[in-house]
Amino acid sequence: MTDIAALTRELFAQLDAACDEAAVEQVRLNALGKKGSVSELLKGMGAMSPKERQTFGPLIHGLKQSISDAIAAKKDLLAEATLNARLLAERVDVTLPSRPEQRGRIHPIMQVFEEVQTIFADMGFSIAEGPDVEDDFHNFTALNFPPKHPARDMHDTFFFEEKEDGSRMLLRTHTSPVQVRTMLSEKPPIRIVAPGRTYRCDSDQTHTPMFHQIEGLVIENGVHMGHLKGVLMEFIRAFFELDDIDVRLRPHHFPFTEPSAEMDVRCDRSGGALKIGTGADWLEILGCGMVHPNVLRACGMDPDVHQGFAFGMGIDRLAMLKYGIPDLRDMFTSDVRWLKHYGFEPMVQPNLATGLS
Ligand code: DAH
Repeated sequence: MTDIAALTRELFAQLDAACDEAAVEQVRLNALGKKGSVSELLKGMGAMSPKERQTFGPLIHGLKQSISDAIAAKKDLLAEATLNARLLAERVDVTLPSRPEQRGRIHPIMQVFEEVQTIFADMGFSIAEGPDVEDDFHNFTALNFPPKHPARDMHDTFFFEEKEDGSRMLLRTHTSPVQVRTMLSEKPPIRIVAPGRTYRCDSDQTHTPMFHQIEGLVIENGVHMGHLKGVLMEFIRAFFELDDIDVRLRPHHFPFTEPSAEMDVRCDRSGGALKIGTGADWLEILGCGMVHPNVLRACGMDPDVHQGFAFGMGIDRLAMLKYGIPDLRDMFTSDVRWLKHYGFEPMVQPNLATGLS
Protein backbone atom coordinates (compact mmCIF):
# COMPACT_ATOMS: atom_id res chain seq x y z
CA MET A 1 0.00 0.00 0.00
CA THR A 2 1.35 3.39 -0.99
CA ASP A 3 2.56 5.59 1.83
CA ILE A 4 -0.10 8.33 1.68
CA ALA A 5 1.86 10.69 3.89
CA ALA A 6 4.93 10.35 1.65
CA LEU A 7 2.85 10.86 -1.51
CA THR A 8 1.27 13.94 0.04
CA ARG A 9 4.69 15.40 0.81
CA GLU A 10 5.96 14.62 -2.67
CA LEU A 11 2.97 16.16 -4.48
CA PHE A 12 3.09 19.33 -2.38
CA ALA A 13 6.86 19.57 -2.96
CA GLN A 14 6.26 19.29 -6.74
CA LEU A 15 3.61 21.98 -6.50
CA ASP A 16 5.91 24.24 -4.52
CA ALA A 17 8.61 23.88 -7.16
CA ALA A 18 6.24 24.60 -10.07
CA CYS A 19 6.87 28.17 -11.14
CA ASP A 20 4.60 28.57 -14.15
CA GLU A 21 1.15 27.49 -15.24
CA ALA A 22 2.48 24.65 -17.42
CA ALA A 23 4.41 23.14 -14.50
CA VAL A 24 1.33 23.35 -12.24
CA GLU A 25 -0.70 21.59 -14.90
CA GLN A 26 1.92 18.84 -14.96
CA VAL A 27 1.55 18.37 -11.19
CA ARG A 28 -2.22 18.14 -11.66
CA LEU A 29 -1.77 15.41 -14.28
CA ASN A 30 0.73 13.58 -12.04
CA ALA A 31 -1.79 13.50 -9.20
CA LEU A 32 -5.26 13.66 -10.68
CA GLY A 33 -4.83 12.70 -14.34
CA LYS A 34 -6.16 9.39 -15.62
CA LYS A 35 -2.97 7.59 -14.58
CA GLY A 36 -2.17 10.04 -11.76
CA SER A 37 -0.98 8.75 -8.40
CA VAL A 38 -4.11 9.91 -6.52
CA SER A 39 -6.43 8.57 -9.22
CA GLU A 40 -4.67 5.19 -8.96
CA LEU A 41 -5.24 5.19 -5.19
CA LEU A 42 -8.93 5.95 -5.71
CA LYS A 43 -9.21 3.11 -8.20
CA GLY A 44 -7.43 0.75 -5.77
CA MET A 45 -10.10 1.35 -3.14
CA GLY A 46 -12.47 -1.12 -4.87
CA ALA A 47 -10.13 -3.98 -4.03
CA MET A 48 -9.85 -3.04 -0.34
CA SER A 49 -11.49 -4.85 2.50
CA PRO A 50 -14.22 -2.85 4.26
CA LYS A 51 -11.89 -2.26 7.18
CA GLU A 52 -9.06 -0.96 5.02
CA ARG A 53 -11.51 1.21 3.17
CA GLN A 54 -12.66 2.69 6.45
CA THR A 55 -9.10 3.60 7.35
CA PHE A 56 -7.71 4.71 3.98
CA GLY A 57 -10.88 6.05 2.28
CA PRO A 58 -10.95 9.34 4.21
CA LEU A 59 -7.17 9.74 3.83
CA ILE A 60 -7.28 9.24 0.05
CA HIS A 61 -10.30 11.51 -0.40
CA GLY A 62 -8.68 14.04 1.90
CA LEU A 63 -5.52 14.03 -0.22
CA LYS A 64 -7.54 14.41 -3.42
CA GLN A 65 -9.35 17.39 -1.95
CA SER A 66 -6.32 19.11 -0.52
CA ILE A 67 -4.12 18.71 -3.62
CA SER A 68 -6.97 19.90 -5.92
CA ASP A 69 -7.49 22.98 -3.74
CA ALA A 70 -3.77 23.70 -3.60
CA ILE A 71 -3.42 23.36 -7.39
CA ALA A 72 -6.38 25.70 -8.00
CA ALA A 73 -4.97 28.24 -5.56
CA LYS A 74 -1.53 28.13 -7.17
CA LYS A 75 -3.06 28.56 -10.65
CA ASP A 76 -4.93 31.66 -9.45
CA LEU A 77 -1.77 33.03 -7.94
CA LEU A 78 0.27 32.53 -11.12
CA ALA A 79 -2.47 34.01 -13.33
CA GLU A 80 -2.59 37.08 -11.15
CA ALA A 81 1.20 37.44 -11.24
CA THR A 82 1.18 37.16 -15.05
CA LEU A 83 -1.51 39.81 -15.31
CA ASN A 84 0.34 42.15 -12.97
CA ALA A 85 3.55 41.76 -14.95
CA ARG A 86 1.67 42.57 -18.17
CA LEU A 87 -0.02 45.59 -16.68
CA LEU A 88 3.32 46.87 -15.51
CA ALA A 89 5.01 46.29 -18.87
CA GLU A 90 2.21 47.83 -20.93
CA ARG A 91 1.62 50.81 -18.72
CA VAL A 92 0.92 54.10 -20.52
CA ASP A 93 1.94 57.23 -18.76
CA VAL A 94 -0.88 59.59 -19.62
CA THR A 95 0.89 62.46 -17.92
CA LEU A 96 3.68 62.50 -20.56
CA PRO A 97 3.58 65.54 -22.88
CA SER A 98 2.56 64.99 -26.52
CA ARG A 99 5.35 64.55 -29.06
CA PRO A 100 7.50 67.64 -29.04
CA GLU A 101 7.88 68.12 -32.78
CA GLN A 102 5.48 67.43 -35.59
CA ARG A 103 7.36 66.33 -38.66
CA GLY A 104 4.95 67.33 -41.43
CA ARG A 105 4.57 70.87 -42.74
CA ILE A 106 1.94 72.63 -44.84
CA HIS A 107 3.43 73.78 -48.15
CA PRO A 108 3.37 77.58 -48.59
CA ILE A 109 1.20 77.19 -51.70
CA MET A 110 -1.43 75.24 -49.81
CA GLN A 111 -1.20 77.77 -47.00
CA VAL A 112 -1.78 80.67 -49.40
CA PHE A 113 -4.68 78.83 -51.08
CA GLU A 114 -6.25 78.42 -47.65
CA GLU A 115 -5.66 82.07 -46.77
CA VAL A 116 -7.07 83.41 -50.05
CA GLN A 117 -10.12 81.15 -49.90
CA THR A 118 -10.74 82.17 -46.28
CA ILE A 119 -10.79 85.85 -47.26
CA PHE A 120 -13.13 85.36 -50.22
CA ALA A 121 -15.38 82.99 -48.29
CA ASP A 122 -15.75 85.75 -45.72
CA MET A 123 -16.94 88.06 -48.54
CA GLY A 124 -19.59 85.54 -49.58
CA PHE A 125 -17.78 83.78 -52.43
CA SER A 126 -18.12 80.04 -52.88
CA ILE A 127 -15.49 77.71 -54.35
CA ALA A 128 -15.79 76.36 -57.91
CA GLU A 129 -13.59 73.82 -59.64
CA GLY A 130 -12.85 72.71 -63.18
CA PRO A 131 -10.69 70.09 -64.89
CA ASP A 132 -6.95 70.49 -65.51
CA VAL A 133 -7.37 68.94 -68.97
CA GLU A 134 -9.49 71.39 -70.90
CA ASP A 135 -10.76 71.85 -74.41
CA ASP A 136 -10.13 74.81 -76.67
CA PHE A 137 -13.66 76.15 -76.21
CA HIS A 138 -13.46 76.64 -72.43
CA ASN A 139 -9.80 77.70 -72.30
CA PHE A 140 -9.83 80.09 -75.28
CA THR A 141 -12.83 80.42 -77.59
CA ALA A 142 -15.52 81.16 -75.00
CA LEU A 143 -13.09 83.59 -73.36
CA ASN A 144 -13.04 85.65 -76.56
CA PHE A 145 -9.64 84.57 -77.86
CA PRO A 146 -10.23 84.68 -81.65
CA PRO A 147 -9.02 81.63 -83.64
CA LYS A 148 -5.33 82.00 -84.60
CA HIS A 149 -5.08 85.01 -82.26
CA PRO A 150 -1.47 85.43 -81.06
CA ALA A 151 -2.70 85.44 -77.45
CA ARG A 152 -3.15 81.69 -77.78
CA ASP A 153 0.57 81.38 -78.44
CA MET A 154 1.40 83.84 -75.68
CA HIS A 155 0.07 81.29 -73.27
CA ASP A 156 2.70 78.69 -74.28
CA THR A 157 0.05 76.02 -74.23
CA PHE A 158 0.72 72.30 -73.69
CA PHE A 159 -1.47 70.59 -76.30
CA PHE A 160 -2.39 66.92 -76.44
CA GLU A 161 -2.30 64.96 -79.69
CA GLU A 162 -4.87 65.87 -82.30
CA LYS A 163 -8.06 63.83 -82.19
CA GLU A 164 -9.76 62.37 -85.28
CA ASP A 165 -12.01 65.41 -85.60
CA GLY A 166 -8.93 67.67 -85.64
CA SER A 167 -9.52 69.10 -82.14
CA ARG A 168 -6.87 69.00 -79.46
CA MET A 169 -7.29 68.86 -75.69
CA LEU A 170 -4.86 70.95 -73.66
CA LEU A 171 -3.64 71.59 -70.13
CA ARG A 172 -5.50 74.68 -69.01
CA THR A 173 -3.26 77.74 -69.21
CA HIS A 174 -5.28 79.65 -66.61
CA THR A 175 -8.21 79.14 -64.22
CA SER A 176 -10.44 81.41 -66.32
CA PRO A 177 -12.17 78.43 -68.04
CA VAL A 178 -13.88 77.79 -64.68
CA GLN A 179 -15.67 81.13 -65.23
CA VAL A 180 -17.12 79.71 -68.42
CA ARG A 181 -18.11 76.41 -66.81
CA THR A 182 -19.77 78.23 -63.92
CA MET A 183 -21.75 80.63 -66.14
CA LEU A 184 -22.89 77.73 -68.29
CA SER A 185 -24.12 75.71 -65.33
CA GLU A 186 -25.39 78.28 -62.81
CA LYS A 187 -27.84 81.13 -62.81
CA PRO A 188 -26.89 84.61 -61.58
CA PRO A 189 -26.23 85.91 -59.00
CA ILE A 190 -22.83 84.21 -59.18
CA ARG A 191 -20.00 84.84 -56.76
CA ILE A 192 -17.23 82.27 -57.02
CA VAL A 193 -13.50 81.81 -56.69
CA ALA A 194 -11.83 78.97 -58.57
CA PRO A 195 -8.46 77.82 -57.22
CA GLY A 196 -6.36 75.30 -59.10
CA ARG A 197 -3.35 74.16 -61.07
CA THR A 198 -2.44 75.76 -64.37
CA TYR A 199 0.20 74.92 -66.98
CA ARG A 200 2.42 76.76 -69.44
CA CYS A 201 5.57 75.73 -71.20
CA ASP A 202 7.87 78.11 -69.34
CA SER A 203 10.62 77.76 -66.72
CA ASP A 204 12.89 80.27 -64.98
CA GLN A 205 13.29 81.83 -61.53
CA THR A 206 9.71 83.10 -61.49
CA HIS A 207 8.01 80.60 -63.84
CA THR A 208 7.41 76.85 -63.60
CA PRO A 209 5.55 74.69 -66.17
CA MET A 210 2.92 73.93 -63.52
CA PHE A 211 1.77 76.76 -61.29
CA HIS A 212 -1.32 77.82 -59.38
CA GLN A 213 -3.96 80.47 -59.86
CA ILE A 214 -7.18 81.60 -58.33
CA GLU A 215 -9.92 83.04 -60.46
CA GLY A 216 -12.79 85.22 -59.27
CA LEU A 217 -16.13 85.84 -60.94
CA VAL A 218 -19.09 87.93 -59.87
CA ILE A 219 -22.25 88.20 -61.98
CA GLU A 220 -24.81 90.34 -60.21
CA ASN A 221 -27.20 93.08 -61.18
CA GLY A 222 -25.60 96.49 -61.16
CA VAL A 223 -22.01 95.54 -60.31
CA HIS A 224 -19.35 97.83 -61.73
CA MET A 225 -15.60 98.60 -61.61
CA GLY A 226 -16.07 100.30 -58.23
CA HIS A 227 -17.22 97.01 -56.69
CA LEU A 228 -14.33 95.21 -58.36
CA LYS A 229 -11.81 97.65 -56.95
CA GLY A 230 -13.41 97.51 -53.50
CA VAL A 231 -13.37 93.71 -53.37
CA LEU A 232 -9.75 93.56 -54.50
CA MET A 233 -8.56 96.27 -52.13
CA GLU A 234 -10.24 94.48 -49.27
CA PHE A 235 -8.60 91.25 -50.38
CA ILE A 236 -5.09 92.75 -50.63
CA ARG A 237 -5.40 94.34 -47.21
CA ALA A 238 -6.56 91.11 -45.60
CA PHE A 239 -4.01 88.96 -47.41
CA PHE A 240 -0.95 91.05 -46.59
CA GLU A 241 -2.36 91.67 -43.11
CA LEU A 242 -1.77 95.42 -43.44
CA ASP A 243 -4.38 98.08 -42.62
CA ASP A 244 -2.85 100.67 -44.84
CA ILE A 245 -1.78 99.46 -48.27
CA ASP A 246 -1.78 101.57 -51.38
CA VAL A 247 -3.04 100.00 -54.62
CA ARG A 248 -3.70 101.25 -58.16
CA LEU A 249 -5.59 99.93 -61.19
CA ARG A 250 -3.57 100.28 -64.39
CA PRO A 251 -5.30 99.86 -67.78
CA HIS A 252 -4.36 96.61 -69.48
CA HIS A 253 -5.68 94.20 -72.09
CA PHE A 254 -7.25 90.78 -71.63
CA PRO A 255 -9.48 89.30 -74.33
CA PHE A 256 -12.10 88.24 -71.78
CA THR A 257 -12.63 91.56 -69.99
CA GLU A 258 -13.53 95.08 -71.11
CA PRO A 259 -12.34 97.33 -69.63
CA SER A 260 -9.35 95.38 -68.31
CA ALA A 261 -6.82 96.35 -65.70
CA GLU A 262 -3.93 95.11 -63.65
CA MET A 263 -3.76 95.88 -59.96
CA ASP A 264 -0.45 97.00 -58.49
CA VAL A 265 0.48 97.38 -54.83
CA ARG A 266 2.86 99.99 -53.57
CA CYS A 267 6.20 98.57 -52.53
CA ASP A 268 9.69 99.50 -51.50
CA ARG A 269 12.67 97.93 -53.25
CA SER A 270 15.35 100.16 -51.69
CA GLY A 271 17.86 98.35 -49.49
CA GLY A 272 17.71 95.07 -51.35
CA ALA A 273 14.64 93.63 -49.66
CA LEU A 274 11.12 93.97 -51.02
CA LYS A 275 8.64 95.59 -48.67
CA ILE A 276 4.93 95.58 -49.52
CA GLY A 277 2.59 98.43 -48.61
CA THR A 278 4.61 101.63 -48.77
CA GLY A 279 7.46 103.01 -50.86
CA ALA A 280 8.15 104.53 -54.25
CA ASP A 281 7.66 101.46 -56.48
CA TRP A 282 4.70 99.46 -57.75
CA LEU A 283 4.33 95.71 -58.03
CA GLU A 284 1.80 93.95 -60.24
CA ILE A 285 -0.37 91.53 -58.29
CA LEU A 286 -3.33 90.50 -60.45
CA GLY A 287 -5.41 90.95 -63.61
CA CYS A 288 -9.05 91.94 -63.62
CA GLY A 289 -11.87 93.66 -65.48
CA MET A 290 -15.55 93.68 -66.40
CA VAL A 291 -16.59 90.44 -68.09
CA HIS A 292 -16.53 91.01 -71.88
CA PRO A 293 -19.96 90.96 -73.61
CA ASN A 294 -18.69 88.26 -75.99
CA VAL A 295 -17.84 86.02 -73.01
CA LEU A 296 -21.30 86.54 -71.52
CA ARG A 297 -22.84 85.69 -74.90
CA ALA A 298 -20.70 82.56 -75.31
CA CYS A 299 -21.96 81.45 -71.90
CA GLY A 300 -25.61 81.96 -72.78
CA MET A 301 -26.11 85.29 -71.01
CA ASP A 302 -27.52 88.50 -72.42
CA PRO A 303 -24.97 91.32 -71.91
CA ASP A 304 -27.83 93.82 -71.86
CA VAL A 305 -29.26 92.05 -68.81
CA HIS A 306 -26.25 90.61 -67.00
CA GLN A 307 -22.92 92.06 -66.15
CA GLY A 308 -20.11 91.21 -63.86
CA PHE A 309 -16.46 91.37 -63.07
CA ALA A 310 -13.63 88.89 -62.96
CA PHE A 311 -10.10 88.69 -61.67
CA GLY A 312 -7.24 86.23 -61.65
CA MET A 313 -3.96 85.95 -59.82
CA GLY A 314 -0.98 83.68 -59.37
CA ILE A 315 -0.89 81.89 -56.02
CA ASP A 316 2.80 81.00 -56.26
CA ARG A 317 3.68 84.65 -56.79
CA LEU A 318 1.56 85.71 -53.82
CA ALA A 319 3.33 83.10 -51.68
CA MET A 320 6.75 84.33 -52.83
CA LEU A 321 5.84 87.93 -52.03
CA LYS A 322 4.24 87.32 -48.67
CA TYR A 323 6.74 84.80 -47.36
CA GLY A 324 9.93 86.07 -49.01
CA ILE A 325 10.62 83.02 -51.16
CA PRO A 326 13.26 83.98 -53.73
CA ASP A 327 13.08 81.17 -56.32
CA LEU A 328 9.79 79.69 -57.48
CA ARG A 329 11.42 76.46 -58.65
CA ASP A 330 12.39 75.53 -55.07
CA MET A 331 8.67 75.18 -54.33
CA PHE A 332 8.57 71.99 -56.36
CA THR A 333 11.83 70.22 -55.48
CA SER A 334 10.32 68.44 -52.44
CA ASP A 335 13.33 69.26 -50.29
CA VAL A 336 12.30 68.58 -46.67
CA ARG A 337 14.79 71.17 -45.37
CA TRP A 338 13.16 73.82 -47.55
CA LEU A 339 9.73 72.71 -46.42
CA LYS A 340 10.77 72.80 -42.78
CA HIS A 341 11.98 76.37 -43.25
CA TYR A 342 9.12 77.77 -45.35
CA GLY A 343 6.31 75.38 -44.39
CA PHE A 344 3.51 75.94 -41.90
CA GLU A 345 2.34 74.15 -38.78
CA PRO A 346 -0.23 71.53 -39.62
CA MET A 347 -3.55 71.69 -37.76
CA VAL A 348 -3.48 75.50 -37.70
CA GLN A 349 -6.34 76.68 -39.87
CA PRO A 350 -5.96 80.22 -41.23
CA ASN A 351 -8.85 82.41 -40.13
CA LEU A 352 -9.65 86.09 -40.12
CA ALA A 353 -10.39 86.33 -36.41
CA THR A 354 -7.06 85.13 -35.00
CA GLY A 355 -4.86 85.81 -38.05
CA LEU A 356 -4.13 84.20 -41.38
CA SER A 357 -0.56 83.14 -40.84
N1 DAH B 1 -6.36 84.50 -66.89
C1 DAH B 1 -5.41 85.57 -66.72
C2 DAH B 1 -4.00 85.03 -66.79
O1 DAH B 1 -3.81 83.88 -66.66
C3 DAH B 1 -5.62 86.24 -65.40
C4 DAH B 1 -6.86 87.05 -65.42
C5 DAH B 1 -6.84 88.37 -65.80
C6 DAH B 1 -8.05 86.49 -65.05
C7 DAH B 1 -7.98 89.14 -65.81
C8 DAH B 1 -9.24 87.24 -65.07
C9 DAH B 1 -9.17 88.57 -65.45
O2 DAH B 1 -10.41 86.75 -64.73
O3 DAH B 1 -10.32 89.30 -65.46
O4 DAH B 1 -3.08 85.80 -66.95
